[in-house]
Amino acid sequence: MTEKQTWSQRFESALHPAIARFNASISFDIELIEYDITGSQAHAKMLAHTGIISHEEGEALFNGLERVRQEYRQGQFQPGVDAEDVHFAVEKRLTEIVGDVGKKLHTARSRNDQVGTDTRLYLRDQIQQIRQQLRDWQTVLVDIAEKNVETLIPGYTHLQRAQPVSLAHHLLAYFQMAQRDWERLEDVYSRVNISPLGCGALAGTTFPIDRHYTANLLHFDNVYANSLDGVSDRDFAIEFLCAASIIMVHLSRLSEEIILWASEEFRFITLKDSCATGSSIMPQKKNPDVPELVRGKTGRVFGHLQAMLVIMKGLPLAYNKDLQEDKEGIFDSVNTVKACLGAMTILLQEGLEFRHQRLATAVTEDFANATDVADYLAARGVPFREAYNIVGKVVKTSIAAGKLLKDLQLEEWQQIHPAFAADIYEAITPRQVVAARNSYGGTGFLQVRQALVNARTQLSVK
Ligand code: ARG
Repeated sequence: MTEKQTWSQRFESALHPAIARFNASISFDIELIEYDITGSQAHAKMLAHTGIISHEEGEALFNGLERVRQEYRQGQFQPGVDAEDVHFAVEKRLTEIVGDVGKKLHTARSRNDQVGTDTRLYLRDQIQQIRQQLRDWQTVLVDIAEKNVETLIPGYTHLQRAQPVSLAHHLLAYFQMAQRDWERLEDVYSRVNISPLGCGALAGTTFPIDRHYTANLLHFDNVYANSLDGVSDRDFAIEFLCAASIIMVHLSRLSEEIILWASEEFRFITLKDSCATGSSIMPQKKNPDVPELVRGKTGRVFGHLQAMLVIMKGLPLAYNKDLQEDKEGIFDSVNTVKACLGAMTILLQEGLEFRHQRLATAVTEDFANATDVADYLAARGVPFREAYNIVGKVVKTSIAAGKLLKDLQLEEWQQIHPAFAADIYEAITPRQVVAARNSYGGTGFLQVRQALVNARTQLSVK
């Protein structure tokens, strides 16, 4: 065994260098270093508080760990692969700084409860950052929605023109998705924020530790009730990855819409130069790279969720090295979600413009008011299913005649059904079609204005 090795005298020879590299997680778990230091500082305080080590020793450990933190921040401490993982790296540097007392830090704990603690501290921070980003994202959606209550846009089902809607209503649909994401992360947080510290390797410890003391210092809401569960549970990671995946679903759906809207076929928006790229060969092109990347990056977050589920499914209790595989997926998902939320917020805020003229024309060039004709008859006593069939026939003959509903003469309407009167024209204008949908949660302007007020109230909850 070389002196670099941390293992006990049980080992006679060093790890094969390639296996050492294979085994090491330092290249990625360095991300956890500050959380590792904070967790260790709480552990050191607890060891002193419970009399397992002296107060002087506790202080030496605490201050030495703080020094490791400063060295890291200043770029003076850059552990390499020989450290295996961040936990060993910090402990080793600590011992170099404070001497033999550093070797007492690992009393009454294991890397198994340590890594679980670090990962939770990391995720807790990241969840709060993502929730703030969701708030910024929601704010931009509401800002734009407020300016576009009476901007109409074709609404689709099956990607076929269905009924026109208020653009604000469309954007507020994404606001609601983001609101659920924000709430979902709060819920996930409550299960991330449980301390496994003190579960030891798997069975607890023989020392008179105080798990609630460390949990309090680290602002955990509670401690794991079962040590085996505490060291081997990654449900919190699965839940986080699921919440992250759902955020990505939402961003990806809007991305797809933006890509469609920017196409020559739709022409609903113009991408501004600050958020679009050109082609290296086709000089006329302006590409929607931002939403395309968001849509594409969604795949990797889903992949991390799937990987985490598969990692867990066959694991016997308690810790298994397989669990080291949780980190890269978590880190990458966090970074991806943050990058995508940031980019989409900028894109919406300043990277695109709605083409109001084109939208106004778009909502007049189709049969998206056909339901309103059926509703018109139904409101005048014709059973809806019958009205539906009548209007179906009208649409058919209008298409054959190359006309839209608004182009039909009053006599033609009355030949179709005597209930039609002159007010049919007003009833089928796009504006009226939208304004009339005032059922709760509908696109009617009154509803949308109320929804905007409600959205602002929701946003005021921090
Ligand atoms: N690097 C390890 C991980 O990320 C730390 C825990 C190692 N525990 C062990 N018993 N080998 O999971």
